[in-house]
Amino acid sequence: MDCQGNFNLKSFETCEQSEAENREKIIVIRNFPNIPTGYTPNPEEADGIVHILAGVAQAGTDVLAVTDDAYFGLFYDDNALKESIFTKLIGRDPRLLALKLDGATKENFAWGLRVGFVTYGATFINDSKGAYEALEKKTAGAVRGSISNASHLSQELVLRSLQSENYAAEKEEKFQILEGRAREVSRVLADSKYQQAWEAYPFNSGYFMCLKLKTVEAERLRVHLLEKYGVGLISLGKTDLRVAFSCIDQENVRELFDTVLQGVKDLKG
Ligand SMILES: Cc1ncc(COP(=O)(O)O)c(C=O)c1O
Repeated sequence: MDCQGNFNLKSFETCEQSEAENREKIIVIRNFPNIPTGYTPNPEEADGIVHILAGVAQAGTDVLAVTDDAYFGLFYDDNALKESIFTKLIGRDPRLLALKLDGATKENFAWGLRVGFVTYGATFINDSKGAYEALEKKTAGAVRGSISNASHLSQELVLRSLQSENYAAEKEEKFQILEGRAREVSRVLADSKYQQAWEAYPFNSGYFMCLKLKTVEAERLRVHLLEKYGVGLISLGKTDLRVAFSCIDQENVRELFDTVLQGVKDLKG
């Protein structure tokens, strides 16, 4: 992110161009809604990302652009891009192959079923049918050669749930719960008393958000919160603490952040 809390297109471009310089192929993974920050770019930022990747491809480097859409659909503000960036990557350049990965786990609240999807989006100069068939066979071979087979029972359960007439309503009900929690997090964090201890990375989607701590080390705080208050968070690097608001009841959100603040004070005191 840049200083204004927007996706840092300039850094992304510099990074991609320098990686492409001495390589024939680069692989880029984009994960929106992002984990750990919970950020999804707005449409202009997404266009910028696509433009940069297409530019690298047009300059002669093969680009495999993987989009990890594990939390797709869980968007909590109007600005977040509401379609996968995958669709924008298709048809840009024959050297740019888009690969969309998603699954039932997060967006369909079906933990443990282990059902995922792989979708290719390529631009072909000549024979698209033959090339797609080859990709399909390669993918089937990779599945066979690694996990052997996905669980048919899980696939059948997911298929039937997708076909159920209650599907949309049940999904919407769960979405509302998560949206309520995400909005409560934003509301609580607007309290200026937290400013001395952290700033929140921009978030507008997904299951998680992330705090950037200002005064104490993240792993130390994580251990302290767990041992003293029974609060389990994830530390990342020196400053970042990931909060899974997806699993906190809305009425407990304030207490959680107050406890984290108390933990910071304990360590500083
Ligand atoms: C960004 C992201 N992608 C993919 C996955 C994997 O999803 P699944 O649990 O369906 O294997 C996860 C799971 O935590 C995730 O957070």
